[in-house]
Amino acid sequence: MFADLPVPAEDKILGIARQFRADPRANKMNLSVGVYADTHGETIILDTVKEAETRLLTRQTTKTYVGLAGDMDFNQAMKEIVFGAENADNDLIQGVQAPGGSGSLRLIAELIGRNRPNSRLWFSTPTWPNHEALVGVGELSINYYPYFDATHNAVDFEGMKAALQQLGPDDVVVLHGCCHNPTGVNLTQAQWDEVITIAQQTGFFPFVDLAYQGFGDDLDTDAYSTRKLAASVAEMAVAASCSKNFGIYRERVGCALVKAQTAEHAQVAFKQLQKIGRGLYSMPPDHGAAVVSIIWHDAELRQQWFAELSAITERILTLRQSLAQQLHAKLGHGRFDFLAEHRGMFSLTGLSSEQVNQLRDQHAIYMVGDGRMNIAGLQETRISELADAIAAVVG
Ligand code: LMR
Repeated sequence: MFADLPVPAEDKILGIARQFRADPRANKMNLSVGVYADTHGETIILDTVKEAETRLLTRQTTKTYVGLAGDMDFNQAMKEIVFGAENADNDLIQGVQAPGGSGSLRLIAELIGRNRPNSRLWFSTPTWPNHEALVGVGELSINYYPYFDATHNAVDFEGMKAALQQLGPDDVVVLHGCCHNPTGVNLTQAQWDEVITIAQQTGFFPFVDLAYQGFGDDLDTDAYSTRKLAASVAEMAVAASCSKNFGIYRERVGCALVKAQTAEHAQVAFKQLQKIGRGLYSMPPDHGAAVVSIIWHDAELRQQWFAELSAITERILTLRQSLAQQLHAKLGHGRFDFLAEHRGMFSLTGLSSEQVNQLRDQHAIYMVGDGRMNIAGLQETRISELADAIAAVVG
């Protein structure tokens, strides 16, 4: 069984994190995997999460299964977080708890792959390196639409539109709802409006990956595209993650949400998602989803979570501005000014893989090989050091 197993290629992101852990240099800096670190470089547990966990510990009386759809109070919370209070009672939308945003991506992909095996999947160029493996199930063909204009560090919007306009009802377009990973460049609301018009005209199926809601501007602004789509197209799906915005990465908390044309269709999709999950992992875990549910359904904790999340978001924006300013000052030009305009944890810096290697080898600074930097992993006290190192490698 195992003798002829090939050694798999290491994950592009997690491989860097492994190298970082093995590096003995005291001054090492980890800007690779998408995890938020505070001013001390620590990924701490939110106060609201700690409080909800304490309450959960007290109130929980059983460890029996929660059921195939997971915690229905959690699914309701996610419906409201993702689609807004205006959709709280919308029976066209149904959600199933899944192990992380990644598990949600897979559930939805399986639903599409089993029901419409001839569908064509479309990812942005570039996209999260794990998208193909998670979403490219069965016979579904993998395709890419233009997204990033590296010359201008902006969205190649004309290229993107031209590609989407060619599509039809057999096409499934994976859209990053906010905080594009890896580039950090995002559509404006006016550009989203145009994409949504194309979705209406062509009938392509929008499949939104919403992994960073609240990490760009705020929960509502970051959900603009998702909510506008829900109000405009007959059918769509959303893979939502709580890893970042609740900081509960290892708890694996996500929700696979569908918006159908009728309440009956939504119910069938809801049941199908549960059946698919049953065949993949049987039941979702409980703890993290229960924590999210406790926070969301308690008015005080909910407000406190909003405050904790917006403090994180504001801090990321400040880190972006400071890094852009320091690079501008040290280099004497605005090559990296775009860092302040990007949103979310990541920016594609435009550094070559040689320069990324130099940063690692000479300065103990780790980022992903394509030049993606996790700005949310940066400490204020080390911005100057990072800017010096970047200035040294770009010459
Ligand atoms: C990332 O892109 O760094 C995160 O989404 C974490 C991961 O699993 O890759």
